Amino acid sequence: MKGIILAGGSGTRLFPTTKIISKHLLPVYDKPMIYYPLSILLLGRIKDILIITTPRDLPRFKELLEDGRKWGINIHYAIQNKPNGIAEAFKIAADFIENDFSTLILGDNLFFGHGLTDLINASIKEVQQENKAIIWGYTVKNPEQYGVLELDKKETPLRIVEKPVNPPSKWAVVGIYFYPPDVIDKASKLVPSERGELEITDLNNLYIKENRMIVKLMGRGYAWLDMGTAENLLLASQFVETMEKRTGLKIACLEEIAYRNGFINHQRLLEIAESMRQSAYGEYLLKLSKEF
Ligand code: DAU
Repeated sequence: MKGIILAGGSGTRLFPTTKIISKHLLPVYDKPMIYYPLSILLLGRIKDILIITTPRDLPRFKELLEDGRKWGINIHYAIQNKPNGIAEAFKIAADFIENDFSTLILGDNLFFGHGLTDLINASIKEVQQENKAIIWGYTVKNPEQYGVLELDKKETPLRIVEKPVNPPSKWAVVGIYFYPPDVIDKASKLVPSERGELEITDLNNLYIKENRMIVKLMGRGYAWLDMGTAENLLLASQFVETMEKRTGLKIACLEEIAYRNGFINHQRLLEIAESMRQSAYGEYLLKLSKEF
């Protein structure tokens, strides 16, 4: 299983803040936004990860995440020259995926909730067993801002409509997608939409037409936030702050997940903790390394 994080785009909805920096590097409470999708791939024990970003932002991502060795994973990088659409990720990532299965996560999506790790791992297992694509649905108040599922009475997907004026349901398609190897072939046949993008929704509709799409509807206990506007960015920061302060546990702490997965040893955990002991994040790691 290969992991891909799409962290390009122009970030125009966050201008002027993102005029000089990728939104995915902005802080969401106590860590950069990219940590959240990266933590999801780590929870799925995915070790080979490709980060796709803009030519401008690539050096900053490399500086922050390096080659992933510090978390016991392999991070590779690729460039998307222009925001030509989410499905372009599979053209860019073709050599990286080779003939493997892949999980794509959008760089501005935050997931949280009891049972999330099980949901990720069940999806990773099922996509490989069934050779079908998997998407997750989530109830939102404003479905018109997302890809929206049309389902029959048995909750079988009939189609997905991108940003519909009249949404066929309240179920938004969230920004994590699991695919069989033929996704590369399917993506290569897509044509740009009216807004000039290779649409992830068009790609997903191809799987629905072939009866090869599994939809998992997320229950009430999950949080799914996208962080693409100033308002949502603030909401996400407040959410993380509230959860972390109440529980004393960090969301998307990459070192903690890597250690629990057995990807890094105690010595490494301690070294990383020491290197940032001045921050609350580093303090948390120090406390953690004493508990383990
Ligand atoms: O968040 C889930 C939604 O994401 C889905 O429900 C929609 O079906 C899907 O089209 C997408 O909608 P958005 O309008 O939210 O996509 P946005 O353009 O904001 O891009 C999402 C992320 O992907 C963001 O982190 C930027 C990145 N991106 C996007 C495009 C179009 C790229 O890196 N390159 C791109 O070309």
